[in-house]
Amino acid sequence: MSNPTAAKPWEHAKAGEGSAADPLATRFVASLDYDRRLYKHDIRGSLAHARMLRHVDLISDDELKQIEQGLTDIEREITEQGDAWPGWDESLEDVHMCVEAALIAKVGDAGRKLHTGRSRNDQIALDLLLWVEEAADALTAKFNTLNSAFVTLAERDGRFVMPSYTHLQRAQPIVVGGELLAWASAFERCNRRLRALVNINRRNPLGSGAIAGSSLPLDREHTAAALNVGPPSDNSLDATASRDAAIDLAYALTMASNTLSRWAEQWILYCTTEFGFVTLDGRYTTGSSMMPQKQNPDMLELLRGRSGGITGQLVALLTMTKGITIGYNRDLQEDKRYLFAAYDSCCDCLDIAAGIVATAKFNEKAIAAGLNRGYLDATSLADYLVTKGVPFRTAHQVVGKLVQTCEAQGLGQLAKLSLEQFNDACGERTVVDQDVYQWLGAANVVKRYRSSGNGGLSGFEQQLKQWKQRLGQDDG
Ligand code: ARG
Repeated sequence: MSNPTAAKPWEHAKAGEGSAADPLATRFVASLDYDRRLYKHDIRGSLAHARMLRHVDLISDDELKQIEQGLTDIEREITEQGDAWPGWDESLEDVHMCVEAALIAKVGDAGRKLHTGRSRNDQIALDLLLWVEEAADALTAKFNTLNSAFVTLAERDGRFVMPSYTHLQRAQPIVVGGELLAWASAFERCNRRLRALVNINRRNPLGSGAIAGSSLPLDREHTAAALNVGPPSDNSLDATASRDAAIDLAYALTMASNTLSRWAEQWILYCTTEFGFVTLDGRYTTGSSMMPQKQNPDMLELLRGRSGGITGQLVALLTMTKGITIGYNRDLQEDKRYLFAAYDSCCDCLDIAAGIVATAKFNEKAIAAGLNRGYLDATSLADYLVTKGVPFRTAHQVVGKLVQTCEAQGLGQLAKLSLEQFNDACGERTVVDQDVYQWLGAANVVKRYRSSGNGGLSGFEQQLKQWKQRLGQDDG
């Protein structure tokens, strides 16, 4: 008599009790908890596989019809019932076995033929790939939404003059839009990185079987074309033993969340009373349980905090795979736990970020109030001297001296120096005219930048135009 605890239909060869005999072992080996979200991808792969089996005459027309009908019904049932679908059975381990068991229950022997020439190893490699591609499309849409928010904010507040910072010390004047579009550029690069990384993993693993392929006349081109996942993978061992698609996506997620974290940190500073550059909408701040006046930028702080978790998931994936020999090992099942967590978290982060940007305000007055501090126009003055024939290194020295003079005399601004003082600093030759004052003061300087992509007005207008074209917002 067969052992009733050896419940798994594929464990006939085992002596004694199956893992189903120990509830902890059942739970420990199962991935159903987190891989059930792959049911659509799994069914899509199974349909392509079944059609290929028909194409190479391994199943009949009628069997294919039954499989197609059964899988279509199962997909509809799961979509309708979600976690309440009665086919979910942890003792069957994973989404693949639950769907297949439900199919067999519905259509009998035709269902028993679905797994012909297939292993869960190539099956999961495919499911993962299909999921990654779908995830990437969703992420691209989120990057676009976020970047649209930056562009819209830049259109409204982008021409305010503000300081830029290197080493978090005042550097040169820019416009607000120059900085906003800097973040948009960074997130656009995150998107291009994502697309590139997804692209290199586009290979069809189906037909690789458990490790060595199959002796049956499978047509791997057939499933590849039907699923639109690139050509068949080159090597069945590699295709079933590698999780590069998961790791590459996790890296793309990590870079996105890392960039979000940098931006969040910048705006956390800008929201302080000390800076006062940015005001966040009330829905993205929280109060303090003790201090009645507080409006804390918690959402930005959590964006910064969650990036740690996403980086952690990438490290988990890398660490988990570093000892994986070239063949499937069960460790690989854990990839989805980490990847899904990183993806879900990153999606939330991108959505929240878009909301924060769409409702934020830059405070022109508060920013302008401090613009004369910190000699933001010092480099511009050096450039002016260069246009009068002074070698740049000399000009740099001269301006350095002039800054010291301003400090010593309590002037605080280069524009308060007289023409005589400028010329004295330059030596014998008179090089400085009245026109020097057009190179001084933050508002003048942001109009003078000429190099493409600059952080001043011309660079901002040029980038804004490109962004509007890219995002299809150009209503002109
Ligand atoms: N649930 C498994 C995973 O996610 C499917 C593959 C199981 N393969 C096996 N040989 N036990 O990796």
